[in-house]
Amino acid sequence: MKRVDDFRLRFGKTELVPIMTGGMGVDISTAELALVSARLGGIGHISDAMVPTVSDRRFKTRFVKEKQKKYKYNVANLNKSDIHFDLERLAEATKLHVGRTMEAKQGDGLIFINCMEKLTMNSPRGTLQVRLSAAMDGGIDGITLSAGLHLGSLALVADHPRFRDVKFGIIVSSLRALLLFLRKSARLERLPDYIIVEGPLAGGHLGFGMDWAQYDLKTIVDEIIRYLKQENLDIPVIPAGGIFTGSDAVEFFENGAAAVQVATRFTVTKECGLPDKVKQEYFRANEDDIEVNMISPTGYPMRMLRNSPAIGAGIRPNCEAYGYLLDGNGNCAYIEAYNRELEKHPDEENISVKDKTCLCTHMRNFEIWTCGQLAWRLKDTSLRHADGRYQLLDAEHVFQDYQFSTDDHIRLPEPEGPTA
Ligand SMILES: Cc1cc2nc3c(=O)[nH]c(=O)nc-3n(C[C@H](O)[C@H](O)[C@H](O)COP(=O)(O)O)c2cc1C
Repeated sequence: MKRVDDFRLRFGKTELVPIMTGGMGVDISTAELALVSARLGGIGHISDAMVPTVSDRRFKTRFVKEKQKKYKYNVANLNKSDIHFDLERLAEATKLHVGRTMEAKQGDGLIFINCMEKLTMNSPRGTLQVRLSAAMDGGIDGITLSAGLHLGSLALVADHPRFRDVKFGIIVSSLRALLLFLRKSARLERLPDYIIVEGPLAGGHLGFGMDWAQYDLKTIVDEIIRYLKQENLDIPVIPAGGIFTGSDAVEFFENGAAAVQVATRFTVTKECGLPDKVKQEYFRANEDDIEVNMISPTGYPMRMLRNSPAIGAGIRPNCEAYGYLLDGNGNCAYIEAYNRELEKHPDEENISVKDKTCLCTHMRNFEIWTCGQLAWRLKDTSLRHADGRYQLLDAEHVFQDYQFSTDDHIRLPEPEGPTA
């Protein structure tokens, strides 16, 4: 019976434990969480979603306050097209977040950053270029391009001195999306160093429509591996979404995958950025508490717990402080939805917006409880204490459970108090 530790992910001469923890924005994948994966010889992700906010929380900087002050005059204005990010400050925040994380790295593993194209920040190209190059300046080991096709992303940093040194990977949910990306990257003679194939059971945004349930990760992974073989392309393929035990991972390795990306099982670890109260919600969730809906203004379906406070909330758009989802014309689907409801109910103090949510504010405040489809199994990965609370796990424990378990077995932690 094989286990994950019988396999290795190879990047040239570098050998890694083939476990990658996913980049969960906004700071759900904290530096602490990523550092554990790297210390244990795998790959940990941080996320570049809303880094100025993350930096303020982590380093007591004042990036958000400054931006809010600059655009204070616009708060009551329903039009947000005036709001722009100061690119120097954005670079500073990214370098700080990445740089401090890399300084703290120990062990043989790597730290990557997850970079979402959908964070268009009212200047898609300019802001993406700054985020990518600042992460490279900050010493990041690799960049995972996500939430978008990224057809122009590599070209934005082709002149960066670390362009051929930093590992670049892309997240795709179909061979078709991969082919589009490969065509572009071939022109720069810079093929991706790894390909993450994210299936329909993943957390966060999905690369499928609301018909996600008709797709299956294994089929997509097989198709992509077959294509790469046929083209003699030796690029590691890394499945993600619903890989809950070491044995699930081994099954993919035996069919040609090079590593797995996992996330949901780490949401209930001490190192994860979610507040402890929210981690208990994840533990308690049952299968019918998990839904996929269209409330994200990105236009992608998103999976979350049904009782996420953001669902149906009607807060005033907070683009003066955040504004990460403003498209190149200063629009966001939430602003439109909010303005529509405001017009319909001009005298109501608290309006409710059902079809869209203010993703920036609610992700920032951990009020969108996004999770993978198998989050309902988290309760089987820990102990329930006498007071009804579940025991939080060490990220090291979860990582090593993936690494060493066999027969779909999940190792429970040592009790830290009287159990129920
Ligand atoms: C709480 C949470 C937040 C996530 N946020 C992001 C994100 O910001 N960007 C991204 O590309 N993927 C995100 N994901 C997807 C994961 O990185 C990962 O690919 C996927 O969830 C793996 O499946 P699993 O959760 O079933 O292990 C998120 C997943 C979770 C559970």
